[in-house]
Amino acid sequence: EGSERSERLRALDLAAKFYNHIVMNHDAGTQGLTYLLGRNLSKKIIMDYQLGYAPQGEQTLVDFLQKRQISRETLLETNLAVERSGLLRDRFRHRVMYPIWDFQGRVVGFGARSLGGEEPKYLNTAETPLFQKGRLLYGFHRARRAIRKSGMTLLAEGYMDVLALHQAGVENAVAALGTALTPEQAVFLKRVADDVILLYDGDEAGQRAAARNLPILRQAGLNVRVARLPSGIDPDEYLKTRDASAFRVEVLETAVSGLLFELQFLTRSHPNHLTSDRLAYLKDAESILARDESAVEREEALTYLAETYQSPIEALREDVLRLRRALE
Ligand code: GTP
Ligand code: MN
Ligand code: MN
Ligand code: MN
Ligand code: MN
Repeated sequence: EGSERSERLRALDLAAKFYNHIVMNHDAGTQGLTYLLGRNLSKKIIMDYQLGYAPQGEQTLVDFLQKRQISRETLLETNLAVERSGLLRDRFRHRVMYPIWDFQGRVVGFGARSLGGEEPKYLNTAETPLFQKGRLLYGFHRARRAIRKSGMTLLAEGYMDVLALHQAGVENAVAALGTALTPEQAVFLKRVADDVILLYDGDEAGQRAAARNLPILRQAGLNVRVARLPSGIDPDEYLKTRDASAFRVEVLETAVSGLLFELQFLTRSHPNHLTSDRLAYLKDAESILARDESAVEREEALTYLAETYQSPIEALREDVLRLRRALE
């Protein structure tokens, strides 16, 4: 119902302002501010993205919102509060708060990070009718213009990556909330720009997420490349030691085609791909090539395989063409 929905949006907006006010102006928010500044975020970006801190108290936000006529039902429906032994309690306590906006720029939920090592590291608003993770992209309402202008979306893993990129002036970056991308998000991105660079963490989890999400993006008709970050590094960490122009040259411009990424990913299931397992690897690689629709990317990948595995390119090309004919 319309009025319930608008009260929920109002509660979420007030909560974002409350958490931000605490972190910027209150002693109770000192730990949060120290944390955010310690992660190289400026006061400007903290204000622009309404970052905040949820204080320790059991019902600080609940009291604040109830004074502003937000109903019990709304507090629960927005997941800003939970019920414990019949009492309303703040859902988020002693966490750094990242408001999450829908595509129109309305706050619909929060990501909440623990300051120390407490688990879980991130706690998100539970799925509600307003907050459906699979239909949102963090930072999109801010990135939209830059995505359109550049014709390209940079898709990162985390909130911190998006913030660090935007702060560095790389504004076409967004993140899915967690690693699993949905077809709906991919289709949405395709409506804004044709190209995507996957900017996933240079660790095992990030590479696996890239491999899993690549087909979803391609299925939506996007042209996808995959950035290679230094081992163990995510974009936020990268930007601690390098500036935006280094990032563009070393990370964006060296991003490989989706097809090359798949070939490199395939080596994981063939640990001896350079020696005893070379032929088995090449056979699997050829069938990946055969299924790729881009002749340009296939040629590039053939050159890569021929050089890396010292195999005649004509023979590889012939195999791939034969496999393609068999697929028709
Ligand atoms: P920082 O440690 O703050 O730099 O986080 P990060 O952005 O590097 O996050 P990480 O690479 O660990 O994970 C990427 C994304 O996965 C995060 O932005 C979250 O959306 C999500 N994520 C990570 N840890 C958790 C968790 O414990 N719970 C949930 N629900 N999501 C998580
Ligand atoms: Mn105050
Ligand atoms: Mn990670
Ligand atoms: Mn990360
Ligand atoms: Mn990180």
